[in-house]
This record gives sequence, C-alpha cells and structure tokens, in this order.
Amino acid sequence: MEKTLVLIKPDALADGHSGDIIKRYEAEGFKLVALKLMRMTRSIAAKHYAEHIGRPYYDGLVEFMTSAPLIAMVLEGENVIARVREINGATNPANAAEGTIRKLYARDNTKNAVHASDRPSSAAREIAIFFSELEQF
Ligand code: CDP
Ligand code: MG
Repeated sequence: MEKTLVLIKPDALADGHSGDIIKRYEAEGFKLVALKLMRMTRSIAAKHYAEHIGRPYYDGLVEFMTSAPLIAMVLEGENVIARVREINGATNPANAAEGTIRKLYARDNTKNAVHASDRPSSAAREIAIFFSELEQF
C-alpha cells in the first residue's frame, strides 16, 4: 500500500489545528502508521528540503520550520500521495481551493500548515528521514 510523509507545520500546531487536520485525513480513509511530535533541526531541514537549497525562500523556510515543534506522520492508503496533496491544497493558501487544509488553516505562503510528499521517490526518502523501521506500523 502507498505511503506518504505528512508534516503538520509549526504554524498549524501552534494555532491548535492538529486535531482537525488528523481527523480530516482519517475521515478520507487513510491509516496512520507512524506519528510523532518533534522539533525539526537545521540538519533535518537541510535533508528534507534539499531540493530547495539556494531558492530565495529557503532561509526563511528553514527558520520557520525549526522555530517550534511540528507533528510528523506517515499515512497509508490507495493513491495517498496524490490525494493528500489535493486535500492539502495549493502551496500558497491564497491560491488554495475552498475546503482544503491550506485554505482553512494556513497563515501564508511559507507558514502553510502542512507538508506532504509529492511523489513515491520523495515519500520513501522523506519517511526515512523522520522515522526508523521500528517506528512504522
Ligand atoms: O509544500 P509544497 O510541495 O506545496 O511546495 P514546495 O514548492 O515544495 O515548497 C516547499 C515549501 O517551501 C512550501 O510548502 C512553503 O512552506 C515554502 N515556500 C515558500 O516559503 N515560498 C515559496 N515561494 C515557495 C515555497
Ligand atoms: Mg514540495
């Protein structure tokens, strides 16, 4: 079964939306197979956002992602990678469709509530950054 890495970013956790966000994924039929509350270090950020190093928003993104705790989780289900990205909505909440998590909860283009893997190779790479085999069910 397909798996994806989801992060409830520091803004959404601080704003008290974690329960609603997890409830939404469960309501869509996805299974939680790993979950933890943690703080992203700069070293984890550099691995997780490797393809963004050098972009104009990179330093601000890392500053934000390491500023406060987040929730990391792995969701499993049919076509979960594409479906979770659809449920999350566009990167910039100003462009996100009605009812998407980013439309509902994101603060701005950087503090945008959630992360989700964008393809199978990213999902496998990202899951391994956040969870050991023993932490995955
Ligand atoms: O998260 P998503 O895959 O939708 O977007 P991305 O293009 O892979 O960018 C990763 C993250 O960088 C975004 O979720 C934003 O938090 C941040 N970002 C930003 O701060 N400013 C941008 N212009 C683009 C992305
Ligand atoms: Mg991305």
